[in-house]
Amino acid sequence: MGRLQISKVSNKTISQRNLLVHPPEPPLHILCEDPANSIFVGHTEMLHVPFYWNYNNVANPHIAIVGISGSGKSYFIKTFLIRASFAWNSNAIIIDWAGEYKQWVREVGGTIIALGKGSYINLLDTGGMKPYDRIKQVMRTLELLTDVGNYPEQRRLTEEAIEKAYIEGKYRMDAVEQQDELGKPLKAPTLKNVVRILEEKASMGTYEFPAELENAIYRIKKFTKPGEDYFSKKSTIELEKLVESGVVDIDLSGLPDETTRALGALTILQFIKEKMRASGWAKTKGLRLLVVLDEAWKISKEDNSDAVMIVREGRKYNFGMIIASQNPTDISEAIFSNVGTTFILKVKFEKYLDYLQGTLNFSNFMREKISTFGVGQTAVNMAFITPTPYPSTFLIEKIVGEEPKVEYFLILNKVISEDKRRDAAMAKSIPFEKEGIRRKLIEYGVSDESIVEIIQLFDRNNRRMDVVAFVILLERSGLKRNKITELLQEYGIDDSTLINIFVSADKKKEQYGGKEIAQIILEDEENEK
Ligand SMILES: Nc1ncnc2c1ncn2[C@@H]1O[C@H](COP(=O)(O)OP(=O)(O)O)[C@@H](O)[C@H]1O
Ligand SMILES: [Mg+2]
Repeated sequence: MGRLQISKVSNKTISQRNLLVHPPEPPLHILCEDPANSIFVGHTEMLHVPFYWNYNNVANPHIAIVGISGSGKSYFIKTFLIRASFAWNSNAIIIDWAGEYKQWVREVGGTIIALGKGSYINLLDTGGMKPYDRIKQVMRTLELLTDVGNYPEQRRLTEEAIEKAYIEGKYRMDAVEQQDELGKPLKAPTLKNVVRILEEKASMGTYEFPAELENAIYRIKKFTKPGEDYFSKKSTIELEKLVESGVVDIDLSGLPDETTRALGALTILQFIKEKMRASGWAKTKGLRLLVVLDEAWKISKEDNSDAVMIVREGRKYNFGMIIASQNPTDISEAIFSNVGTTFILKVKFEKYLDYLQGTLNFSNFMREKISTFGVGQTAVNMAFITPTPYPSTFLIEKIVGEEPKVEYFLILNKVISEDKRRDAAMAKSIPFEKEGIRRKLIEYGVSDESIVEIIQLFDRNNRRMDVVAFVILLERSGLKRNKITELLQEYGIDDSTLINIFVSADKKKEQYGGKEIAQIILEDEENEK
């Protein structure tokens, strides 16, 4: 038995042991207020109460998520978006820096916009704005991404040329509706027109600072070169519809560098902001749109980015921002100090912990917990509107995730006998659910590594696998033939086809000997091409 020890502690230390002096978690009426209008996150660690997130009691609906790589930030965002779409019919726009959401968005039936790879935005599209306002935005963007802000004369020349391009295009500078004499919509100018206007000015030879002009031209030309003119082509995206199109992935990974990605992201944010302001005050419950910035430090860091404006004004329009980062100091203070809720997943670096603890004011006990979290464990900090007797930071045991239903297919083409192939009733591929097979294999005692390998091979081949390769894989994972038979019978494969499958599997194994199965599958695919 342990002995009770009495030791000296200061009041300060005691107060930091939040547990001893406060109720450890917010009360039930806060944690599960109005579940039908909230997002389930997980159970609290102390009292095991389900926590349903909503923004009724906090300053605004915006969310920051911090945590080291692999701590579960993106997983939580996906879960959140799915539940928000169920609960509120929320739309979402994901600013997808590295293209990491693409696959998932496809699985949940969303829309993928691959900027620079088939989808383009014309920087000079007005998106329902007055040209004068749009010009101001474009100039601000250029100031963030180029050095034009350091050269007032070049800045002036550029702005003037953009204005001229609109006027040439018959735009009225302070009107929202733009039509020609016949009532047809006008065609927006592009940066190529701007370059031409500047070049014409240069060729006249009368302008007194030719070097300034040359530099202004050079800067804009970077955005208009053939092959790199991602933002000076006709828009292929209906910007107007973007905010009400379900889950939309703005995939920036097809753009060549950080600057063009930031240009794409900022432009999208600008259009979202305009659309938000035009949408009027929200009357319905729940969030209309969630804007996701995940690891987009280049624009999250900027105090001048439109992300900040969406955060400032979002609440009254029911627009929410979710911003995630490995490094909390990469989130602009203008944003971080304005989010209603922060989810802190595992954080290791002392300096990040210092920053978080300093800003959010949690106990040392909490700090210790955060630095030893496992995947999906989180502390939640809520910026309650009214002073509360309970702590504003509390622990969630584990974020309970939501995975979309994914279908995989076993391909039978090669093992169905001739007669059966003629018989239309025999399917050539068998669909089954990813989670179903995962559970089944766990049940059969297949190791985690083997399951991951099998799933990855399906994913790599567009969620398909030849049934013979599948059988070889299962055997290599230590599964006996009687179990494999049971499994395949469950998928409706008849006995004669089963025999064909095993015969082919034996032949294949002889043919390939000890080669890695992944290699065999790849070679098979190559041969078929
Ligand atoms: N709450 C969770 N429950 C189960 N698995 C999780 C959870 N959070 C993350 N994971 C898994 O952990 C891995 C890393 O998560 P991810 O969200 O990509 O991390 P991050 O975005 O922080 O780098 C993923 O494979 C994901 O499926
Ligand atoms: Mg991530």
